[in-house]
Amino acid sequence: MAIARVGIVGSGIMGAGIADVAASTGHEVVLRSRNRSTADRTREALEKGYAKRVDKGRLDAADAEAALARVVATDDLTALAECDLVIESVVEDLAVKQPLFAQLDGIVGETAVLATNTSTLPVVEMAMVTTRPERVCGLHFFNPAPAMDLVEVVRPLTASDATIEAVTAFASACGKNPVEVADRAGFVVNALLFPYLNNAVRMLENGTASRDAIDTAMKGGCNFPMGPLALLDLVGLDTSLAIIQALYEEFRDPNYAPVPLLKRMVAAGHLGRKSGRGFYDYAR
Ligand SMILES: NC(=O)c1ccc[n+]([C@@H]2O[C@H](COP(=O)([O-])OP(=O)(O)OC[C@H]3O[C@@H](n4cnc5c(N)ncnc54)[C@H](O)[C@@H]3O)[C@@H](O)[C@H]2O)c1
Repeated sequence: MAIARVGIVGSGIMGAGIADVAASTGHEVVLRSRNRSTADRTREALEKGYAKRVDKGRLDAADAEAALARVVATDDLTALAECDLVIESVVEDLAVKQPLFAQLDGIVGETAVLATNTSTLPVVEMAMVTTRPERVCGLHFFNPAPAMDLVEVVRPLTASDATIEAVTAFASACGKNPVEVADRAGFVVNALLFPYLNNAVRMLENGTASRDAIDTAMKGGCNFPMGPLALLDLVGLDTSLAIIQALYEEFRDPNYAPVPLLKRMVAAGHLGRKSGRGFYDYAR
């Protein structure tokens, strides 16, 4: 099945980024926020993002206008009824995602595919609250979605080959490089990345080195584009903690046990770039 109209639920960092990618690659997009003001703000942010690319000569003005015209920002979940694919990208919490999947199952057409952008949670547990487990899978974009090349296509035990083929073709049509992975916490990238990020926080906590020394060391020593603490701020410390907790829950590996400093920073509302303060301060 060809995917022409895509619904996205959740307009945070990732939902907005995926909407940007899908619209600029010719897909009709229905982007659903929880309230009208967020929907309006998200649309304005998309508009600004495209305008910036036009200014920098990276996007044609007519293409930017056409991409924006393909996006409907709404606060109404039933507006997703005609979508061929819906990508859920709300907070990393199964207790929120599962009821949403059950609701979406009753809204979209019989042949539509439901996908989750979860970083770590069991996709099968979202599939099983629907009447279409064979048409539910993971579609894990990376942050920032417009810039990152990879999409992990997550195959739960219940998904059909046709579903995996359809979403893989969609990821390619978005200009991404899809890889198929099994439904295990963290898939490939986060299962390998998060012990590293967690241990960077542990080093800061136990005084091995300062924030700047840790980030400088990993940039210079491994040729990484950013250090681990700056990357945690980009991902969001609340999302990062949820990812690490889900990994620990699944594998019980001590490298996945969240470091207390990370938990305390989330409790304090220091969530990284999105809250203006994390390991670094960000001008708001
Ligand atoms: N941040 C990353 O680097 C990254 C990368 C890949 C995947 N993800 C995954 O994408 C998903 C969204 O993460 P994000 O970084 O965009 O988070 P975010 O905090 O930027 O946005 C979360 C979104 O969820 C919505 N939300 C919060 N509580 C809700 C509720 N109770 N019901 C419905 N909606 C609710 C918020 O309104 C917001 O739109 C998560 O599953 C996360 O694991 C994140």
